[in-house]
Amino acid sequence: MAPGRESIVKGVVSPLRSVPGGIARPDYVGKKRAARWQGGDIHDAEMIDRIRVSARIAAQALAEVGRHVRPGITTDELDRIGHEFVLDHRAYPSTLGYPGSAGRPAFPKSLCTSVNEVICHGVPDDTEIHEGDIVKVDITAFKDGVHGDNCGSFIAGEGSQASRQLVEVTHEAMMRGIRAAAPGRQVNVIGRVIEKYATRFGYESVRNYTGHGVGPAFHTGLIVPHYDAAPDHDDLIEPGMVFTVEPMLCAGSESSHEWDDGWTVVTDDGSWVAQFEHTILITDTGPEVLTLP
Ligand code: MF3
Ligand code: CO
Ligand code: CO
Repeated sequence: MAPGRESIVKGVVSPLRSVPGGIARPDYVGKKRAARWQGGDIHDAEMIDRIRVSARIAAQALAEVGRHVRPGITTDELDRIGHEFVLDHRAYPSTLGYPGSAGRPAFPKSLCTSVNEVICHGVPDDTEIHEGDIVKVDITAFKDGVHGDNCGSFIAGEGSQASRQLVEVTHEAMMRGIRAAAPGRQVNVIGRVIEKYATRFGYESVRNYTGHGVGPAFHTGLIVPHYDAAPDHDDLIEPGMVFTVEPMLCAGSESSHEWDDGWTVVTDDGSWVAQFEHTILITDTGPEVLTLP
């Protein structure tokens, strides 16, 4: 995709950043695993109002971090900017201390930075961003007991025509998936629309990582695939539901593996990836994007 750009390798992760005692932590911080959410995905107006606040902070934080993506900056510096922004809004960066799967370390940073062939869950470290890199920033804010989650893809400098197209098509795929999320339909309509659009450009939509119910839990248990999963994932989309739509589109094959850090997910073929994510609310008349600045 970018001739001469070497593949991404693990860098040095900086010491844990601190959070003032006055900022409430999600209950999974310091635990082996997050408790399973039992409360469903349809929320009342009071809960939705709280999610709106967290979602807006997450969106503002994403915009702020995105403004700093440029050649020469490290992903650790992006993490510092996002961390401080979220704390300044009296919120907690949900990924910091989020438990890993069985026996893996907790996520050590306040946002995910996934560069080029890294699909998702990249850990900020001393890796320097180069001209033309695609940097996915995924940041989540927790305030007043609820989370708002979003992700964007930023190109450092101009980028290649191929990278710009991948980023634009991925954003459009997300928006098409969101617009398909009408009450009365099944959740699997979202991924069907996303995958169909991706295929037009020869891109593959990642299957192993999905959207999710969000709000009172970071991941409520509801799964939102970004591929055509029918007849599975036939959950009814209903007013009051809040979940993410967060497609990852690959320029090549979507087949992937995880690094031994327990987090970083990369494409097997080294092909580059873009991702966007919004937290959305289903209203009586259709979807509403909550992660807007
Ligand atoms: N924000 C990511 C998502 O969209 C989850 C990151 S979990 C982490 O679901 F632990 F990797 F940070
Ligand atoms: Co998410
Ligand atoms: Co996210």
